[in-house]
Amino acid sequence: MVGAAAGVEAGTWANAGAGAAVEAHAAEISAGSSGVVSGAPSEVNYETERLRAVIWAYPPDRRYALAAMQDIQHNFDYLPQAGLKLLAEYMGCPVVQLYSMATFYKALSLVPKGRHIIKVCDGTACHIKSSQNLIDGIQRDLGIRPGDTTADGQFSVETVNCLGTCALAPVLLVDGTHFGKVTMGKLPEIIDSYRMESGDVEGGLTEGGSVVGGSGEGGLVNGEVEDSLAEGGRDE
Ligand code: FES
Repeated sequence: MVGAAAGVEAGTWANAGAGAAVEAHAAEISAGSSGVVSGAPSEVNYETERLRAVIWAYPPDRRYALAAMQDIQHNFDYLPQAGLKLLAEYMGCPVVQLYSMATFYKALSLVPKGRHIIKVCDGTACHIKSSQNLIDGIQRDLGIRPGDTTADGQFSVETVNCLGTCALAPVLLVDGTHFGKVTMGKLPEIIDSYRMESGDVEGGLTEGGSVVGGSGEGGLVNGEVEDSLAEGGRDE
């Protein structure tokens, strides 16, 4: 894992600057070039069309492996094993290196994540404000610890280091919505609002991409908060 990580940092797997080459490659595909086919595996057994659509959008060069993995993650919400094998064949690199990258980057997952992602900030400010109590409370409510997903696939729980809203500690992020000054009394209410099976959050607790709880418990702070969990973040 360390080797792969070093490779990423050194730019071996960098996806930065991939845009122009990817666009050129896409144009090549559109023009009917056979270049794509030459780099493609002959046998694919798993969700072939969707995986091909994602992977073949990139040039068959290992420099684009990380970008392709992020794209697969985005489309499948995790990295299917068959997808990594397909990508390794296409990029011409050992699949074990892709697995190393997948375990190194927090934004990448080898297992399907839940429909709702609860991120508990356990950075210094939130830790001082008893974020561990929230983690324990989530475990009591959902029966899972950080890194796990409920058996019904509804929730995944993760911890993060800082969401950039320390003044609102302790902070939760659920599907992109920040909840600040979360109390143990408020926690079940937040979780329950996501249990509703209507497709989206109901109950008036949340506003997409907003901070909830900043103007006193249950209050709403204006202004959007940048999601500090950028894809490709190091797993620390
Ligand atoms: S430490 Fe939790 S938001 Fe900064």
